[in-house]
Amino acid sequence: MYSQQQTVKLQNLSKSLLEQTKEHSFKTEEVDKLRDVLRYHEYRYYIMSDPLISDFEYDTLYKQLEKIESEHPALVSPDSPTQRVAKGLTKDFPTVQHLVPMLSLENSYNADDLIDWDRKARELTGLENIEYCVEPKFDGASISLIYENDLLARGATRGDGVEGDDITTNIKQIRSVPLSAKFAAYGIRQIEIRGEVLMTKNNFKKYNDQLAEQNLPPLANPRNAAAGSLRIKDPKEVSRRNLEAFLYHVSYHSNIDGQPNIDESLKTHSGSLQMLWDLGFRSPQKEKKIFKGIQAVIEHCREFEITRDELPYEIDGIVIKVNEIALQDKMGMTTHHPRWAIAFKFKARQATTKLRAAEFQIGRTGAVTPVAKLDPVSIGGVTVSSISIHNEEYIREKDLRIGDTVLIERAGDVIPQIVKSLPELREGNEKKIHFPKQCPVCKTDLVKEEGEAVWRCTNINCPAQVVERIIHFTSKDAMDIRSFGDANVRKFFELGFLKYIPDIYKLPFDKISGLEGFGEQSMSNLKAAIEASKQQPLHRLIYALGIRFVGETTARVLANAVHYLPDFKNKSLEDLQALEDIGPKVAGSISKFFSFPENITMLQELENLGLNLKSNKSIITAGGNLDGQTFLFTGALLELKRGEAEEMVEKNGGKLLSGVSSKLNYLVVGEDAGSKLEKAKRIPTIKILTEKEFLQLISL
Ligand code: IVH
Repeated sequence: MYSQQQTVKLQNLSKSLLEQTKEHSFKTEEVDKLRDVLRYHEYRYYIMSDPLISDFEYDTLYKQLEKIESEHPALVSPDSPTQRVAKGLTKDFPTVQHLVPMLSLENSYNADDLIDWDRKARELTGLENIEYCVEPKFDGASISLIYENDLLARGATRGDGVEGDDITTNIKQIRSVPLSAKFAAYGIRQIEIRGEVLMTKNNFKKYNDQLAEQNLPPLANPRNAAAGSLRIKDPKEVSRRNLEAFLYHVSYHSNIDGQPNIDESLKTHSGSLQMLWDLGFRSPQKEKKIFKGIQAVIEHCREFEITRDELPYEIDGIVIKVNEIALQDKMGMTTHHPRWAIAFKFKARQATTKLRAAEFQIGRTGAVTPVAKLDPVSIGGVTVSSISIHNEEYIREKDLRIGDTVLIERAGDVIPQIVKSLPELREGNEKKIHFPKQCPVCKTDLVKEEGEAVWRCTNINCPAQVVERIIHFTSKDAMDIRSFGDANVRKFFELGFLKYIPDIYKLPFDKISGLEGFGEQSMSNLKAAIEASKQQPLHRLIYALGIRFVGETTARVLANAVHYLPDFKNKSLEDLQALEDIGPKVAGSISKFFSFPENITMLQELENLGLNLKSNKSIITAGGNLDGQTFLFTGALLELKRGEAEEMVEKNGGKLLSGVSSKLNYLVVGEDAGSKLEKAKRIPTIKILTEKEFLQLISL
C-alpha cells in the first residue's frame, strides 16, 4: 500500500513531527500530516505486524493530535485516528439491511465432493479447466462493512443473512479496519465488503487469563470470544479485546458518477483481495493461492490441514472460489449459497487410542463418575490421557471395553469425548466394564434414584466425598483459597489435619512447616489466603458448602433471603419454594442440609472461627436492563453460544430459570425447540422470543 518512496517520506516526517512535539513547536497546519503519519504507523503495526516506531513515539504523536483536535474542534475529521475511540456506552444495535444478502457456503468434506463440485462448475461455465482462488476459512464472526465516498459508513453482523445489527462503533475498535480508504482511486463510490472478525489464539489465552483473575468463567473458544465481543456495549472493552478482521469478499460496489469504468482489479476475486490489501485492509492477500484445475486444489487442502495449527488464529477449513467474477456471475447462486464457491471443511480433531482402564471417581455429592484411562494421545496440541465416560448407560450404549481402540474427539476443540469404540479391531481379550455395586472408597452400597442416570455413594462421611467437599469449599468460585489446591487438601486429609471444613481454619501450621515443600513463603501465602477467605460474602459461603443443586445463582438467591445463614433451619419447604427459581427438588435439598444438626453446628463453628454468616445485600448484582426478569433458553442458538447468552442475562441483572413455569418471563427459542416451547405456549404470561429478539432486548 505504501511505496518505498512514501515509506521513507513518512518515516522522515514522523521523526520531524516527533521533534516538533517534543519542542512544543507544533504547527496546527500540519495536523493532516500528523494524521497521515499515525495512519501509516497503524498500518505498519496492525496490518504488516512490522512497526517502525516505538509504542511510546506513537503515543506521543497520538496525544499531540488529540491535543490539537480538542483545542480546535473544527479540525476534527471523521476518519481521524482519534475517532475510533467512542465516548460512553452504545445504547442499542439497530437492525440494518445488507446491500446484498449474506449467503453461506456449501460444505465439502473430501476429495470426491470437490471433484463433483468442479464437474458442475465446468458444466455451468463450459470450461475445461477453471482457475480457482483458495483461502483459509476463518473461524470467527462474520461482518459486513460499507464504505461510502471513501469513509467507513457502517459495520454490521451477519444476523439472519438479510438483516444484521449495526455494530459500527464496535467495528471501529478493530485497528486493522481502516476508517477511510481511497476507493475513489478505483472509481468506486459505495462498496460492501464481507469478512470475519477473529481473536488470535494468543489474545484469546490472555483474555481468558484475565477472566480467571477476576474469578469469571473462561470463554469456550476464540470464535465465541469474537462473536461476543462484537455485541459488547462498552466500546472501550471491545478495544481491549484486540480483535482482528480479515476482509475477503466484495459483495457490492457502485461507480462514482461519470466514471463508468471500474478498475481492472474487480474482474477477479484475487484482484479484489489485492485491491483491499493495497487500500490498507487485512485481506487474505498473502494467504490466498491460485490454482488451475481441482487436483491442485485438493492437494493444497490436504497440505494445509496438516499445518493449520501453525496459524496464529483458528480456521475450520478452506474456501475455494472461482477466480473470475464474470464466471461467478454466469454460475449464479441457489437460495442458500453461491455456486461459484465451496468450503472444504477440515475434519473434527480426532485420534484413536487404547482404553486401558476404567476408574470410578466419587464427587462431593457422592455421584460416581466413570473415567476412562487412555494411552496418552495428542489431539490438536493437547495430550489426552483420561476422559469422562459419564455413566453406566453411556458405557453400555457405546459398548466400551477395556482394551478397546477408541476414537476420541475434542468437541468444539475443548472437551475431549469418546466418539465410539472400534470393535473391528478387537482381539478377543477385551473386558467388559463392570460398574461397581459398592463405593470403591468406603464400600457403602451404591444407589441409583429413580429417573437418574447416576449411581451415588450415600455415606456423607465417605472420605472421598469429604475431600471433594473441602476441595470445592476452597475452589476459585467458592471461597477462593488459591494457595490451597487439590493436592494440599488431599495431603492434609491423609495426614489427619483436615477432617471436615472447619479444620481449614485450624490447620496445625507448626506441623505443616516441617513438611517437605512448605517453605516460609508458601506457608505465609497459605495463611494469608485462608485468613482472607473469612471475608468472603455470604453467597460464596453458601455455594462453597456444596449443597446439592445449589449453584452460584441459587446461592445468591439464598444469601438474599435470610439475614443469618442458620435461620434456614426454620424455613419450610413452602418458604423455600417461594424464592426465585427454587423448585421442589432444590428446596428439598436445602431443607435436608439445614435439618442436620451437625451442619448447623459446623456453621456455628465457622462463625466462631471468624467467617461471615450474615447477609450483605448490597453485594447482590443488579441494575442491568433485565433487572429481576427471568429467562430460559431452548433449542440451538445460531449467533450465540448458550453459555454466552446466559452470561448476558446475568450481567444485565436478569435471572435464569431451569424449567418452564409461571415464574418464567421469557423463553428464548432457537432452532428445533421442543417440549419447552410447547409448554410455554400454554402459559400466556410467558413471552416467547427469537434469538434476534433476545439480542434486541438485551441491547435496549
Ligand atoms: S466467502 C458469498 N470466504 O464462512 C460468499 N467466507 O460457512 C461469501 N468464511 O458466512 C463467503 N472464511 O462467514 C468466505 N475466506 C472466506 C471465509 C468465509 C470464513 C465464513 C463466512 C461465511 C461462512 C460460510
